[in-house]
Amino acid sequence: MLEHLDRLAPDPILGVMAAFRADTDPRKVDLGVGVFRDDAGETPVLRAVREAEQEILARQTTKTYVSAVGNAGFNEVMERLLLGQQHGALASGRLRTIQAPGGCGALRLGAELIRTAMPDAVVHVSTPTWANHVPLLSNCGLKLERYPYFDPATGGVDFDRMLGVIDRLPQRSVVLLHASCHNPTGADLEDAQWRELLGVIRRRSLLPFIDIAYQGLGRGAAEDAYGPRLFCAELPEVLVAASCSKNFGLYRERTGALHVLSATPTAADAAISQLMRIARGLYSMPPDHGAAIVHGILTGERLRKSWEDELEGMRLRIQRLRNAAVEALAGACARRDFSYIARQRGMFSYLGVNPQAVRELRERHHVYMMDDSRINVLGLRMDNIGYFAEAVGKVVV
Ligand code: LMR
Repeated sequence: MLEHLDRLAPDPILGVMAAFRADTDPRKVDLGVGVFRDDAGETPVLRAVREAEQEILARQTTKTYVSAVGNAGFNEVMERLLLGQQHGALASGRLRTIQAPGGCGALRLGAELIRTAMPDAVVHVSTPTWANHVPLLSNCGLKLERYPYFDPATGGVDFDRMLGVIDRLPQRSVVLLHASCHNPTGADLEDAQWRELLGVIRRRSLLPFIDIAYQGLGRGAAEDAYGPRLFCAELPEVLVAASCSKNFGLYRERTGALHVLSATPTAADAAISQLMRIARGLYSMPPDHGAAIVHGILTGERLRKSWEDELEGMRLRIQRLRNAAVEALAGACARRDFSYIARQRGMFSYLGVNPQAVRELRERHHVYMMDDSRINVLGLRMDNIGYFAEAVGKVVV
């Protein structure tokens, strides 16, 4: 009965991760999957996470189920991390949060809620967008379309074209937005552009669905949430999928949340009841460990400060590596201008080389990146950045 199943190609991102792990060459450079790395190439457990974890282990007396919405304390601190302590939405009675298995789980829950509310809804995603947005949003039956976003000529956002297309969408369309550190391009909206976009979304009665997976790794935790904070202050309905994988380094603990702002408190109660039903039918309840850690960190003054310092350290490391990459590439490959890499934000940028060059980098130089030439700048280290730049110089024609 199962014999006819076709064997599938590996997932584009996880496939590169597996190919890198299988390469035994000591010079190999991993610019594939989006994880933080320190200058030893490690993805360490954050100090604040380790401490919070130890406290949990010492204190925890039961492993019984938590609740259908997950860890309520976690949900509350996640709302405040997203919106700040004083945001009007917090007191409005219109905001509800459900814990989710990672940002992916939150995106899928949001997609299922949209499908329940509007079975014919079309979700519009940026060109390009994170590869996994496509199955996460469309596997439940929602239709996906694309709006223009990235301008390869400038390395920034082609905002006029983006806004022009969004301004012609039918009412009740869903627009998926990246709050910051756009994956895969690193090109973010400026604050003024968020404000302009708000006007269009309001005028056309569109539903924004914001993915915030890198809060704190772009300009700072508050700055990276500018878009969601603005939209939740000004619009009746907003969905936000949040991830703690990157900013808390909790990747494998699958820790995230879906926030839903509804038009009225009654509608909010209905939405959360639907989400509980959806989650129950998908995986019943989310894992608690990561959520308990985040709750411990964000409610403990000392731990919070320690986490904020580590997060700032991660953010500054990204900026240092971006600047160093531009400098090294300028030396080894002067015929191309890579200066846009220093202007972009978060883990990712396009190297802007063709698939043949990507293959050569992988096969001849053991430098791994996504087929579309997306690099995770955190795969660079001070001791391999020169090797990387020289390899690029050899393949770029
Ligand atoms: C990435 O884009 O590399 C990360 O978000 C990890 C993932 O799950 O794809």
